[in-house]
Amino acid sequence: MRHLISPLDLSVEELEHILTLGERIMKNPEKYAHVCEGKKLATLFYEPSTRTRLSFEAAMLNLGGKVLGFSSADSSSASKGESVADTIRVISSYADICAMRHPKEGAPTVAAMYSEIPVINAGDGGHNHPTQTLTDLITIKILTGRLDNLTIGMCGDLKFGRTVHSLINAMVRYPNVRFILISPNELTIPDYLRAEVLDAGNIDYVETNQLEQYMPELDILYMTRVQRERFFNEEDYIRLKDSFILDASKLQYARKDMYILHPLPRVNEISTEVDNDPRAVYFKQAKYGVYVRMALIMNLLGLDQDTGL
Ligand code: CP
Repeated sequence: MRHLISPLDLSVEELEHILTLGERIMKNPEKYAHVCEGKKLATLFYEPSTRTRLSFEAAMLNLGGKVLGFSSADSSSASKGESVADTIRVISSYADICAMRHPKEGAPTVAAMYSEIPVINAGDGGHNHPTQTLTDLITIKILTGRLDNLTIGMCGDLKFGRTVHSLINAMVRYPNVRFILISPNELTIPDYLRAEVLDAGNIDYVETNQLEQYMPELDILYMTRVQRERFFNEEDYIRLKDSFILDASKLQYARKDMYILHPLPRVNEISTEVDNDPRAVYFKQAKYGVYVRMALIMNLLGLDQDTGL
């Protein structure tokens, strides 16, 4: 039995397999409509979500399976003090696989230790969000045709942004990937990521608070939200929340073949006038997330083997 807690739980070959399967499903969804018949996915969401929870549910339903779960800690027995360990012991007898989102970093790791079913980390605090990374990778691969030889700008909250941390961890394994890390000084990437991943891996990166200056170099611009829920101090959030706003005037510096990704939800950081620009692919990205989660569910349930699928 395997879990997906960090993007590094998948080798580059396994990633390639899941992304390829996701693309195949996208081209021929009917072929996969019964693969998970008789299987159940539990969605254990202790923190709000729109895309991740509903795309997981759509993925399992598209595969012919069923779904059950809760969408907030308040509507579960966590509100009575039940531990993650006890919850997953019980859920293991109700479902075949589960996706868990939790505000505490490491909660899905604890769940995996006590689980009898595969646990998928659907986002833990400011730590990791591996299925958003799968979504980001399939989007980049489909649109650019590659995952190597890319200059990726990441802009916004790089300190608390778990999607950024997971994507950096995944992309450093591909050759000739360069990062331009654009953030206010208070929201730069965590020290461990800089030292243990970027510096240790001799990765080419720049840390800056200038978006326009680096825009012409980018193949991908990955915008992120400044996350109110991660701040201890409302004043700091208000001071930093509009540090970077992508609008049409800034996009004039970008290449015609650059793509703008965003894990969503978007607040102010991308002006709605950008939505109709052909380079804006964040809604397409959210759609691709369903197919790659279908591929992941099949993979973790061992249903992508020996079926000719
Ligand atoms: N991208 C993402 O994780 O969105 P949700 O918070 O809506 O799940």
